[in-house]
Amino acid sequence: MPLPPLILLYLIFLIPICSSSAAAEPLPHQSHFTKHKFHIKNDNKSDSYQQYFEITRPLPFDTLIPSCTLPVFSHDFDNTIGLPPATTDYSPPTNCTWTHVSLHLSVASNGSQYDRIAAVWLDGAEILRTSTAEPTPDGVFWNVSKDLTRYSSLLRQENITLSVMLENVVNDVYTGVYRLNLTFLYYDTDSNDTSSEGFNFPLSLFPLNRKSTVMKWEENPVISTMNREENSLDLYENPADLIIPVSGNGDEGFWFRIEKDSDVKYKGIQIPSNTYKAVIEIYVSFHGNDEFWYSNPPDSYIEMNNLETKRGNGAYREVLVMLNDNVVGSVIPFPVIFTGGINPLFWEPIVSIGAFDLPSYDIDLTPFLGMLLDGKKHSFGLKVADAISFWLVDANLHLWLDDNLKEVQAMAIEYSFPSINLERESKFHELDGSFEIEGKRKSEFSGWVNSSMGNLTTHVHKKLKFENTIKFHNNGTQKVVKQQVKVKWELRVESDTGNLISRTIVKRKYPLKITSSTLAGSEKNNYLMITNLEHSLTEEKSNGNSSSSLVNSQQSSGWMFVQDHDVLSGAATTHQSYTYKDDIGYYSRIVSAANGELGNDTTSFLCSSSL
Ligand SMILES: *[C@@H]1O[C@H](CO)[C@@H](O)[C@H](O)[C@H]1NC(C)=O
Ligand SMILES: *[C@@H]1O[C@H](CO)[C@@H](O)[C@H](O)[C@H]1NC(C)=O
Ligand SMILES: *[C@@H]1O[C@H](CO)[C@@H](O)[C@H](O)[C@H]1NC(C)=O
Ligand SMILES: *[C@@H]1O[C@H](CO)[C@@H](O)[C@H](O)[C@H]1NC(C)=O
Ligand SMILES: *[C@@H]1O[C@H](CO)[C@@H](O)[C@H](O)[C@H]1NC(C)=O
Ligand SMILES: *[C@@H]1O[C@H](CO)[C@@H](O)[C@H](O)[C@H]1NC(C)=O
Ligand SMILES: *[C@@H]1O[C@H](CO)[C@@H](O)[C@H](O)[C@H]1NC(C)=O
Ligand SMILES: *[C@@H]1O[C@H](CO)[C@@H](O)[C@H](O)[C@H]1NC(C)=O
Ligand SMILES: *[C@@H]1O[C@H](CO)[C@@H](O)[C@H](O)[C@H]1NC(C)=O
Ligand SMILES: *[C@@H]1O[C@H](CO)[C@@H](O)[C@H](O)[C@H]1NC(C)=O
Ligand SMILES: *[C@@H]1O[C@H](CO)[C@@H](O)[C@H](O)[C@H]1NC(C)=O
Ligand SMILES: *[C@@H]1O[C@H](CO)[C@@H](O)[C@H](O)[C@H]1NC(C)=O
Repeated sequence: MPLPPLILLYLIFLIPICSSSAAAEPLPHQSHFTKHKFHIKNDNKSDSYQQYFEITRPLPFDTLIPSCTLPVFSHDFDNTIGLPPATTDYSPPTNCTWTHVSLHLSVASNGSQYDRIAAVWLDGAEILRTSTAEPTPDGVFWNVSKDLTRYSSLLRQENITLSVMLENVVNDVYTGVYRLNLTFLYYDTDSNDTSSEGFNFPLSLFPLNRKSTVMKWEENPVISTMNREENSLDLYENPADLIIPVSGNGDEGFWFRIEKDSDVKYKGIQIPSNTYKAVIEIYVSFHGNDEFWYSNPPDSYIEMNNLETKRGNGAYREVLVMLNDNVVGSVIPFPVIFTGGINPLFWEPIVSIGAFDLPSYDIDLTPFLGMLLDGKKHSFGLKVADAISFWLVDANLHLWLDDNLKEVQAMAIEYSFPSINLERESKFHELDGSFEIEGKRKSEFSGWVNSSMGNLTTHVHKKLKFENTIKFHNNGTQKVVKQQVKVKWELRVESDTGNLISRTIVKRKYPLKITSSTLAGSEKNNYLMITNLEHSLTEEKSNGNSSSSLVNSQQSSGWMFVQDHDVLSGAATTHQSYTYKDDIGYYSRIVSAANGELGNDTTSFLCSSSL
C-alpha cells in the first residue's frame, strides 16, 4: 500500500519496529480490537456526541408524517452479560390507521467498549439484527431505520412481548454502557399528509404508491383474490398473514447458538392448512472463532505451524435450512464486519455494510407446501455447515393464507438439492502457502398449490457459486483473502395450463478482498498492521417488466499499531459508493471518511421521468 509521507513518518518515529522477526507467534490472523487506549480525537472539541452511520437509502415513506408514533422501548445495557433479554409489552397504537411501519433505533454510548451484537424480537420472531459502534470517551451515537411492513401481522397483535438482547460487559476497563431507544412509526400511505420539511425525497421513487393494494389494517383483514394474484409475484411486497418464529425459547435470546457442524436446531411447527405461500427468512451473525470465517485457514496449517489461533476449519460456511431432515434451502451469508473487526479505525464514522442492519435472507418454501399441509407438526431445522463456535441463527416462517378456503391442496413435484461440490486445494511450506476452495450447486424445487387462485405450480431454481482463496507470504506476515459469492435465483409461477403467471429473477454477488501485512513490534504481542479492504454487495432483481439494482461498495485502507487487542495508534480512510435504481428512479450516495471525519459526501436522486 502506498503510504502517504506523513504516515511513514509516524511509522519511523513512533513505532518501535524490530528489524528481525522477534515475535514468537506470528500474527497473520484477522482479529477483533478495541480502541479503548486510542481513538482519533476531533480537534474541534465539541460537547456533542459524534454520529456514526451505515450508508443506505432513505425509506420510501420517510417524508410522510407518521399517523402514530410509539416509543416502544428504552433501556440502558450495562453489565448485561448472562442475563435474559430486556422485555416490554407491545400493543399497536389504538385508533390509528396505518399501512406501513418503520422502526427507529437510536443508540448512544460513551467510555470504552467492545462492539456488541444485538437483536430485537416481537413475540419470538426476529425483526432486527444489529451490532454496535465502539464508543469513545467523548461519546458516539447512531440512528437506524428499518421498514417493518413485512411484519405487519405481528405488529397488529395486542399484548405480545418485545425483547431486546445486547450482552455487554461493564467494569473498570470497559466502561461504555449502550443506551438504547426504540420507536415504531406507523404510516398511512393512503393519506396525503406529506412533510414539507427537510429532505424532500420524491415519494414516487419507490414502489409504494404504484398500486393501491397495500394492506390496510382491519380487525379481520380480508385479502381479495385480485390483490393476491398480483402480489404473490413479489416476495417482498405484500406482508404475510401469519409469521411463525423458528427460534429458541428466549432465556438467552431467541436465537439459536450453533457451535459446530453437527449442531442442528429444530422447532416443530404446524402450519394452517389454508396456506398457499410460504417463505422462510433467515437471520444470522458469526462470532468468536468464526467471526472472520472467510479468512480461516485449514487446521493442518495451524497445527503444522504450532499456532495458537483457533480460527480454523477452512473458509467455507453455509447456513442450511432443514425440513423433516431434507435440506430445503441454504445461504452463504454476506460477510458483515463488525466495528471492532479487521481495523476498527476503518469504521469511524461510517460502519461496514450491514453492521447496523444485518441483512436477512428469504427462501421460498412454497414448493414444499405439499409436505406441510397435512395438519401435523413438522420440524424446521437450522444448521451451519463447517461451523466452529459460534453462530447466532434463527428464522421466521412467513405464511400467506387463503381466506376463501379451509384447506388448500398441494404437492411437491421436484426436489433436487445436491451436496455442494467443494474442491479444496492446500499448499503450504511453514508459514507461507495458499488455500483455495471452490464450490457450486444447482438446486431445483417445484410443487403445485391448488387454492382459490387456481392450481399454480411454483418452480424455484437456484445457482450458487462460492470461491475463496487465502494466501500467506513473507513468512506468514502478509495475508491476502479473496472471496466471491454469486447467487442466481429464479422463481417461476405457472398456471395448470402451462401459462407463465410470473417470473422473478434475483442475482446477488458479494466479493471481498482483504490484504494485510504485519510487522512485529519490540515487545511481545505488539505489532503494526497495514490493511486494505474492498467489499461490495450487488443485487439485481427483475419481476416481469420491473427491475431494480443495488451496488453498495466500500474500500478502506489504513494502519494501526496494536498491543494484544488494543489499538494504540493508527490512521485510516474509507470510501463508499451506494447506488440504487429502479423503474421509478435513481438514488446514489458517495461518501468518504478519513481518520474519523466525514469528507466528501454527495447524494443524488432522479425520477425516471427526468432520466
Ligand atoms: C474545525 O472547525 C473548522 C471550522 O468549522 C473547520 O474548518 C475545520 O475543518 C474543523 N477541523 C476539524 C479537524 O474538524
Ligand atoms: C379515533 O379517531 C377518530 C378520527 O380521528 C376520532 O374522531 C375519535 O375520537 C378517535 N377515538 C378515540 C377513542 O380516540
Ligand atoms: C432516549 O429517550 C430519552 C427520553 O426521550 C432521551 O432522553 C434520550 O436522550 C434518548 N436516548 C437516545 C440514545 O436516543
Ligand atoms: C459518560 O458521560 C457522562 C456525562 O458526560 C459522564 O458522567 C460519564 O462519566 C461518562 N461515562 C463514561 C463511562 O465515560
Ligand atoms: C436520531 O434519533 C433521535 C431520537 O429519535 C433524534 O432525536 C435525532 O434527531 C436523530 N438524529 C438524526 C441525526 O437523525
Ligand atoms: C390486552 O390487554 C388489555 C389490558 O390487560 C386487555 O384489555 C385486552 O383485552 C387485551 N387484548 C387481547 C387481544 O388480549
Ligand atoms: C388528497 O388531496 C387531494 C387534493 O388536495 C384531495 O382532493 C383528496 O381528498 C385528498 N385525499 C385524502 C385521502 O386525503
Ligand atoms: C382445486 O381447488 C378448487 C378450489 O378449491 C376446487 O374447486 C377444485 O376441485 C380443486 N381441484 C382439484 C382437482 O381438486
Ligand atoms: C518465520 O517466522 C517464524 C516465526 O515467527 C520464525 O521462527 C522463523 O525464523 C521465520 N523464518 C524466516 C525465514 O524468517
Ligand atoms: C395441478 O397442476 C399440476 C400440474 O399441472 C397437476 O399435476 C395436478 O394434478 C394439478 N392438481 C390439481 C388438484 O388439479
Ligand atoms: C410488460 O411489457 C409488455 C411489452 O412492453 C406490455 O405489453 C405489458 O403490458 C407490460 N406489462 C405490465 C404488467 O406492465
Ligand atoms: C474528496 O474528493 C477529492 C476529489 O475526488 C479527493 O481528492 C479527496 O481526497 C476526497 N476527500 C476525502 C476525505 O476522501
